[in-house]
Amino acid sequence: MAVDLLLGLQWGDEGKGKIVDVLTKNYDIIARFQGGPNAGHTLIFDGNKHVLHTIPSGIFHDSAMNLVGNGVVIDPVIFKKELDNLSKHNIDYKSKLLISRKAHLILPTHRLLDAASETSKGKAKIGSTLKGIGPTYMDKTGRNGMRVGDLELDSWKDKYKALTAKHIKMLDFFDVDIQYDLSELETEFCRAVDTLKELTFIDSEDYLNRAMKAGKSILAEGAQGSLLDIDFGTYPFVTSSNTTAAGACTGLGVAPNKIGEVFGIFKAYTTRVGSGPFPTELFDKDGETMGRIGHEFGATTGRPRRCGWLDLIALKYAVEVNGVTQLMMMKGDVLSGFDTIKVCTSYNYKGKEIKHLPYNIESQNVSVNYTEMKGWQADLTEMTSADQLPPNLNAYIDFIEKELEVPIKIVSVGPDRKQTIIR
Ligand code: GDP
Ligand code: IMO
Ligand code: MG
Repeated sequence: MAVDLLLGLQWGDEGKGKIVDVLTKNYDIIARFQGGPNAGHTLIFDGNKHVLHTIPSGIFHDSAMNLVGNGVVIDPVIFKKELDNLSKHNIDYKSKLLISRKAHLILPTHRLLDAASETSKGKAKIGSTLKGIGPTYMDKTGRNGMRVGDLELDSWKDKYKALTAKHIKMLDFFDVDIQYDLSELETEFCRAVDTLKELTFIDSEDYLNRAMKAGKSILAEGAQGSLLDIDFGTYPFVTSSNTTAAGACTGLGVAPNKIGEVFGIFKAYTTRVGSGPFPTELFDKDGETMGRIGHEFGATTGRPRRCGWLDLIALKYAVEVNGVTQLMMMKGDVLSGFDTIKVCTSYNYKGKEIKHLPYNIESQNVSVNYTEMKGWQADLTEMTSADQLPPNLNAYIDFIEKELEVPIKIVSVGPDRKQTIIR
């Protein structure tokens, strides 16, 4: 069977965790393929809220196996905390969690380097989650990284010490004051590695290809969003991995001709956390309302998310880069109560009106043109079927489908697993 993908189409936090949890019943395997603990995926069901950072969002279902693929970067310390949280909820994770030997490890010094790099950038900082993502992927592509499979070697600590020593020297290049206690960090890291080693490490590309041949269904869970992709995002204000569809091939060892459905998930408006351009960003009461009603605070860092209207130019770009076959619209309930809803349908760029995402979308280069639509007042959060949705919301959905030329199959009307309408 083919591998289906679920990808965020904006700047992350679209609601991927919620929808993966909803879809898990249809799949045998849920696999993360890139990113690491910079992600924060929220799941709400049975009155409990869970935030996952590295562990796939299928972990709460008994029926599915969960795989952390080779493209993911793992911080054992954060991973251990995630496992401890699962234990608190009596989740027997050991029997349904597999880790690729080829996944790279985030060392404590990667986190320090991230902090030093960001501090040294001053106002030009990326707004990183400071989880060591950039430095770890740099070591991966620089061919210096440590991988999960290394932990099976008796000599892993030698490798750890050599890489750490190199990082400490690199820290000196940044003229900033970063406080740390190396031996404390090392003790915490080694303890977490012991916990990680209790899990099953596998050659995951072989596992997945055999699973496909055996007819198993697989859902790949993206992290971050297309506009944070290292190649196609708003560089340099991006993350350090390919968050788009191609990243699932390299991050799992799945060939492009084995990809099935590509589920593209987006919020009914737009948010961004961290620095970087955001053409439809609002600095007025409307933006404040979206943030307040939508509880727009980062699931990993707690930072307030910047909010703005839906940007169909950026969304169309993400649909094309990923080859999206079905759309899922999240948080429609947050827009209830607006008299007018605006949607960006073109940009002004170098004196011309354009309908594609240009190289440069900083506010000095781009301004936006909106199409205005009538809002809806009804509370959506109790609705359970598509025929209950208000006419003005249906008009909004129809308009988006026409512009993007892809059907919207799921409309999410609240954070709970149950608040999900299938069209
Ligand atoms: P992810 O990183 O893509 O998994 O998304 P996050 O978990 O970081 O952020 C999405 C936030 O929106 C979480 O707090 C979810 O509980 C919440 N959420 C998801 N879907 C909906 C929805 O349809 N309506 C509302 N109001 N909240 C939602
Ligand atoms: P999920 O999977 C939203 C943002 C950071 C920063 C930039 C680089 O929950 O959607 P990094 O830590 O990778 O060096 O940060 O990317 N960022 C995210 N924003 N959701 C995420 O993940 C993010 N992961 C990273 O805020 O702007
Ligand atoms: Mg998130």
